[in-house]
Amino acid sequence: YLNYRVPQTRRDIFQTLIKGLQRLEYRGYDSAGVAVDGSGKDHAASISLYKKTGKVKALDEEIYKNNSIDFEAELDTHFGIAHTRWATHGEPSPLNSHPHRSDKNNEFVVIHNGIITNYKELKKYLVSKGYDFESDTDTEVIPKLIKYLYDNRENDYVSFSTLVERVIQQLEGAFALVFKSIHFPGEAVATRRGSPLLIGVRSQYELSTEQIPVQYNCSNSRTDEQEKNVLNRRGSTNALHSVHDRLAVEFYFASDASAIIEHTNKVIYLEDDDIAVVVEGKLYVHRIKRTAGEDPVRVIQTLQMELQQIMKGNFKAFMQKEIFEQPESVVNTMRGRICFDSNTVILGGLSDHLKEIKRCRRLIVIGCGTSYHAGVATRQILEELTELPVMVELASDFLDRITPVFRDDVCFFISQSGETADTLMALRYCKQRGALTVGVTNTVGSSICRETDCGVHINAGPEVGVASTKAYTSQFVSLIMFGLMMSEDRLSMQQRRLEIINGLKKLPELIKEVLALDDQIKSIADELHHQRSLLVMGRGYNYATCLEGALKIKEITYMHSEGILAGELKHGPLALIDKHMPVIMVIMRDACYKKCHNALEQVTARQGRPIILCCQDDPEISKMAYKTIELPHTVDCLQGIISVIPLQLISFHLAVLRGYDVDFPRNLAKSVTVE
Ligand code: F6R
Repeated sequence: YLNYRVPQTRRDIFQTLIKGLQRLEYRGYDSAGVAVDGSGKDHAASISLYKKTGKVKALDEEIYKNNSIDFEAELDTHFGIAHTRWATHGEPSPLNSHPHRSDKNNEFVVIHNGIITNYKELKKYLVSKGYDFESDTDTEVIPKLIKYLYDNRENDYVSFSTLVERVIQQLEGAFALVFKSIHFPGEAVATRRGSPLLIGVRSQYELSTEQIPVQYNCSNSRTDEQEKNVLNRRGSTNALHSVHDRLAVEFYFASDASAIIEHTNKVIYLEDDDIAVVVEGKLYVHRIKRTAGEDPVRVIQTLQMELQQIMKGNFKAFMQKEIFEQPESVVNTMRGRICFDSNTVILGGLSDHLKEIKRCRRLIVIGCGTSYHAGVATRQILEELTELPVMVELASDFLDRITPVFRDDVCFFISQSGETADTLMALRYCKQRGALTVGVTNTVGSSICRETDCGVHINAGPEVGVASTKAYTSQFVSLIMFGLMMSEDRLSMQQRRLEIINGLKKLPELIKEVLALDDQIKSIADELHHQRSLLVMGRGYNYATCLEGALKIKEITYMHSEGILAGELKHGPLALIDKHMPVIMVIMRDACYKKCHNALEQVTARQGRPIILCCQDDPEISKMAYKTIELPHTVDCLQGIISVIPLQLISFHLAVLRGYDVDFPRNLAKSVTVE
């Protein structure tokens, strides 16, 4: 947040920054930090950093406890930055949280969203040049690198934006970055590639659709004199606010409009590789070079959305948003782990323990609720690929039974939150008995993450809706990747592995095809929403789909629902079937197809009216169905990822139609930290 000639107390500035962070908390957080000008007469001559693990509120409290801060000091012009972190590299801790700094004097401080993939090379280089690192993050190379470029500048004068331009030429990966420096007081530089970044503008003058012409010039070849005049050469016509020269103005840099919408609805969205710089209250946008066909201006847009709406995008609920995120979340789970050229899979968090895992006596997969279902869903393929016995256990029951566990067992703990008490206790139980423990979580730095010997982050991104959706499909993909990693050197399995890896590659497209069926699925929900009960039946690879579908239905629609193993039909559940009982059946073209067909005949013989999830072009099944939802076909062991999505959607639509709060079902919490 930059205020230029808009007097603010230091308290106001903290409040704007902290409030902005709180608006982003819905995306997940594990620590937060802020950088502002130091106290004292020449406040811009130093930068103060405040960081804290946990909620933004904890940071807020920490700041207000600090007696050395003069909250009432009025600052006419000031630039402060703040960040909430969702850990990817390094556990949540004050040192790992942002802003990151160049050195102990905080000459340059940076906040970053995204991931720097070549940070190891850059870090090695900077360490060789004598720069000390204090965190485990990828981000820290950025402030160090800008300081290195500043310390080694050829010209006496170098502009802030030129330094940033040189930094991003060295970075690979995705980033949205905002820089602050004691060498450039009151100046802000921001840039992005692959991660979103927008700038909100609030000014005393009415802003409508002003445009900022983009400037194209590479600083690499500038002479000393040219660099010195860089601001003049920018030319005032290239800046926002050139007309009103002594304008009071505030700029808000954010990765998401929700952080700033209460201050202004006038925003400029930056494009990849744009460098935005505010100098003396004027905003410039600059690019290193021009590529054919690109827009040479950045236009101020007026956002019409409400805050809630922005956080949820165009979706009615976080759960719906998260269902629709699955084409991307499964990609994020696989990113950097599967090489589709060489058909290899590397889960970095397990590499060091792979030998030990291969020597084990059995695998035990432990979780609760949806996370348990991810274990059920992948059990068969894990048995096939690892050639080991696989037990899948509900954490509470596993503990109740005082299940025997041995030193040569490998125990997996599946948990979105990483904090579920039953799973955590099962982990401690297995650890005590000397088993190797592996965490599969969506929350870096969570208890399960910290207490396991090794693990896999599913990288699905924060899940807000209490009903788990995208975490399930990412857990599913993670466990399959583990099976693939274990079978890499088995010659007899190469064909099967290839088939699965190709299936994973196509997965995002197939998920999109299923999501496109949303209207059809909603019309089925329209028909069902007055029912009291809903059975979901299937077997083999899709039994877990039925359990998971039924769980989604009961937890958010409050209808009774049961996932039934079709093989068990004649041992009891068949008695429930009549023309009134709605039944969803999952019948895919796999080894269980014929057996499922038999179950279908038994259902229709009792006048049941099955709604069938089947593969596209299956006229035989369609003939016997009351309704069908035709799904794209994939490899048998991945089909459950495709078939669970219509059930997630059906439960969502049923809950909306029944008038319930989808994201916060009664009696349930997102993270169950009690037994
Ligand atoms: C259902 C659901 C719960 C969780 C369970 C375990 O939609 O979300 O069944 O799956 O409470 O939670 P985690 O995965 O955080 O251990």
